Amino acid sequence: MKHLIDPTDLSVGEIAEVIALAEDIIANREQYSEVCRGKKLATLFYEPSTRTRLSFTSAMMELGGNVIGFADAKSSSVSKGETVQDTVRVINCFADIIAMRHKVEGAPLAATEVSRTPIINAGDGSHSHPTQTMTDLLTIKRELGTLNNLTIGLVGDLKYGRTVHSLIKAMSRYENTKFVLIAPPELALPDYIKHDVCDRYGIPYCEVDNIESVIGDVDILYMTRVQQERFTDLDEYERVKDCFVLDAQKMRLAKERMAVLHPLPRVNEIAIDVDADPRAAYFRQVENGKFVRMALILKLLEWQNDPSRTFDHGGKSLGCKCPNPLCISNLEPVRPRFEESEGIVRCVYCESKAE
Ligand code: CP
Repeated sequence: MKHLIDPTDLSVGEIAEVIALAEDIIANREQYSEVCRGKKLATLFYEPSTRTRLSFTSAMMELGGNVIGFADAKSSSVSKGETVQDTVRVINCFADIIAMRHKVEGAPLAATEVSRTPIINAGDGSHSHPTQTMTDLLTIKRELGTLNNLTIGLVGDLKYGRTVHSLIKAMSRYENTKFVLIAPPELALPDYIKHDVCDRYGIPYCEVDNIESVIGDVDILYMTRVQQERFTDLDEYERVKDCFVLDAQKMRLAKERMAVLHPLPRVNEIAIDVDADPRAAYFRQVENGKFVRMALILKLLEWQNDPSRTFDHGGKSLGCKCPNPLCISNLEPVRPRFEESEGIVRCVYCESKAE
């Protein structure tokens, strides 16, 4: 069974297949309007969403399939204490493929342990958001024509931003990628991504505390929101917040050929005077999200019966405990899974360093 829990569950070749299919769907939409007739997608959203849930719904409808599910866990039997794994066993009786968003990290991976249908992670806590990453990759490809030789500026909340974590993992596999990390110290990229992804794969990165000094160097500026609630010192928030706001004046310093991306929703980190700039790609990015999810639904349904397609996150108990209180292994009765690499033991569900 092939699932999509982390961007690296797809090889670079499989990502190319998905992007090529998405581009073919864009070019020949009529040809795909009946290909999922009789199939059902279940959208299990335990956390709020506008784009991801509705683009999955729209994607399945444009493929001629049907959609069931819930947008609020309070309206499901989760509110009576049903576990993720039991919910998935039940949904397996009704649907052919499941998209799950959960505030608990590792919940979609726990779902794969019991599921008879493909599971797609639609965002789990601060951990991972692989379908947003596929959206980002398709957008980069369509805006700049390539996924190689790119300098990517990542702005804002790099600590908790699951879209940033997933994009770094995915882009680290392409040729000559460089990252510019633009964040206040409170929201710096977690060490496990810097070391386990960037250092391990020899990806150059630098860290700066403002957009102006680097905007002229980047091919992609990936904006995210700096959230006030993440700061313990509000004076510090007031001091730094405008360093991470993009406006038309800063865009004058950018390359003529570059693209501004944002997973959205935005609050105030991109001024509306940027919206009319042809390099502002964030609303085109939303539409790409629907096309790439159409391609992912088709590919995962096709690959589920192909034994050559692998899915294995590994992991053994190793007598460890995950220190992350938001990890599924601390909240529901799942089998503890840890992996050791270069002397560091990590929880397979959320990638926290084990105690
Ligand atoms: N980009 C994204 O995940 O948006 P939603 O939270 O609205 O789904």
